[in-house]
Amino acid sequence: MKFAVLASGNGSNLEAIIDALRKKKIKGTLQVVFSDKENAFALQRARKAQVPVVAWRDPKACKDRAAFDRALVKFLRQEGIELVVLAGYMRILSPVFVRAFRNRIINIHPALLPAFKGAHAIRDAFKAGVKVTGVTVHIVDEEVDHGPILAQAAVAVTPADTLASLEAKIHKVEHRLYPEVIGELVKGKKGDK
Ligand code: GRF
Repeated sequence: MKFAVLASGNGSNLEAIIDALRKKKIKGTLQVVFSDKENAFALQRARKAQVPVVAWRDPKACKDRAAFDRALVKFLRQEGIELVVLAGYMRILSPVFVRAFRNRIINIHPALLPAFKGAHAIRDAFKAGVKVTGVTVHIVDEEVDHGPILAQAAVAVTPADTLASLEAKIHKVEHRLYPEVIGELVKGKKGDK
């Protein structure tokens, strides 16, 4: 199965996916890494692993989100993409994108959804003083940080934790959980390498 990773930032989850591909824990093909940020570190990681990368600046001609997403859908279809993996992709997907890849877009979120949606989930959970938070992998629908949950893993917050130590614990769990889920999704599909 051919899949794409969409990333805007650091790309540590992408790195974990690339590692799992190398170890054959994911038996699919990472066809392309796409970014809306030309200087995303995720792109450097992909290039280093010799994964094709494509980056588009949010071009002025494509100011409107739907137009950008229509062009992206076209591109991903041309690439034969069957699964879209969001890994720190900071653009909200427009309905046009969600419809085009219905049930074939997944996301990882650093909290136990439906708790702590949004871009600062780890910090928000830490500030709220929860004793347990975690990681969620879910199918993406039209709502932000929402859709059928595929997997969750809990992370305990101890009195000794700082925001930084909690972030580190959550990312470690992400890097295990996301490749596992992707491995399951692509398993047994024809055309796997
Ligand atoms: C992760 O914490 C992920 O849960 C969230 O964005 C972050 C991306 O990190 N959606 P990275 O770019 O994979 O390092």
